Amino acid sequence: MILVTGGAGFIGANFVLDWLAACDEPVVNLDALTYAGNLESLAALEGDARHIFVRGDIADRALLDALFATHAPRAVVHFAAESHVDRSIHGPGAFIKTNIEGSYTLLEAARSYWAALPAQAKAGFRFHHVSTDEVYGSLAAGDAAFTEEHAYEPNSPYSASKAASDHLVRAWHHTYGLPVVTTNCSNNYGPYQFPEKLIPLMIVNALAGKPLPVYGDGMQVRDWLYVTDHCAAIREVLARGRVGETYNIGGWNEKPNIEIVRTVCALLDELRPDPAGRHDRLITHVTDRPGHDRRYAIDARKIERELGWRPTETFDSGIRKTVQWVLANPRWIANVQSGAYRDWLATNYADRANSR
Ligand code: NAD
Ligand code: TYD
Repeated sequence: MILVTGGAGFIGANFVLDWLAACDEPVVNLDALTYAGNLESLAALEGDARHIFVRGDIADRALLDALFATHAPRAVVHFAAESHVDRSIHGPGAFIKTNIEGSYTLLEAARSYWAALPAQAKAGFRFHHVSTDEVYGSLAAGDAAFTEEHAYEPNSPYSASKAASDHLVRAWHHTYGLPVVTTNCSNNYGPYQFPEKLIPLMIVNALAGKPLPVYGDGMQVRDWLYVTDHCAAIREVLARGRVGETYNIGGWNEKPNIEIVRTVCALLDELRPDPAGRHDRLITHVTDRPGHDRRYAIDARKIERELGWRPTETFDSGIRKTVQWVLANPRWIANVQSGAYRDWLATNYADRANSR
């Protein structure tokens, strides 16, 4: 079996659902159920003996030791993290705690379990660390996309904490021989994404007739990847990736934010027209994010060359599916818009005056 951390979050839940749809190898899913963790995303697995959910913290060493001893996983796929840049600006402490200390504790527990395995199991074991392209910093308009050799230049508390965890993973391989692989992925979107991130936030706000808050000029560029393509890439790297290597994963889909928001508006005009008018009337430029990275772009040729992985969704097909998923799942959306979610919106948006 495999041990997945953060499997009740956006990408982790998609990964667990896809994994169990593709094979029968059981999953132990360790998740602290922070604001971002949601068991409703895994409702389809209720009563499925192949999914063992454990609520707990990756920084809890005693719990980790017990999980390794009880379940003897052949691999760890480590998603658990604080993942939202804006939250890291308002409160970096949780990012240091989970992304750095938590990853360190998980590495240590994995190392002590792995060191005692018999030779064959020891050689086959994998620690797969899921990371982000944000560790590489920001690109200017004409710069080449990030390769795996790009220097680390993290700019936000979030990306700095992820960069730190990448370095720990690298060191645990180099120093102790722990068989690790790391993947650095671009911005994901798709079902079950918490509506604090750009795409689901814009869909949810537009449906509610609320302003669509575009930071600054909206010309910041991200490389968008449909989440199930990311999950497929992780499965490939886990199965066939070279130990100690890193693989960049991207969608070959660079888009400025304003274009994303306009696309969401156009799709909603088609799929859920608003009698009050076109959805793009709601676009509101607001004060920019401090230290906002201008552009991310992933060069995903290594994973294609070595493992034959390429994304299957285009942006057009993926964004349509995403909007349709939100429209088809009003209960999931309503249930995550709790008091805590409303508090976050007040914290992040109240003091962003309209900038136009
Ligand atoms: P998410 O915020 O949706 O989910 C994170 C999950 O981790 C939640 O279920 C949460 O409850 C859990 N968690 C948080 N702290 C924990 C702790 N201390 N112990 C155990 N569980 C804990 O994040 P996501 O978007 O699914 O991202 C998953 C991973 O992928 C993260 O490591 C993130 O850095 C990375 N990543 C995300 C993106 C993206 O676009 N979302 C892109 C590249 C990389
Ligand atoms: P986000 O989804 O938070 O991902 P990340 O910061 O990790 O790339 O944001 C994606 C882009 O959208 C980023 O450039 C910030 C921008 N953005 C807005 O313009 N308005 C918003 O309300 C949010 C949440 C993000």
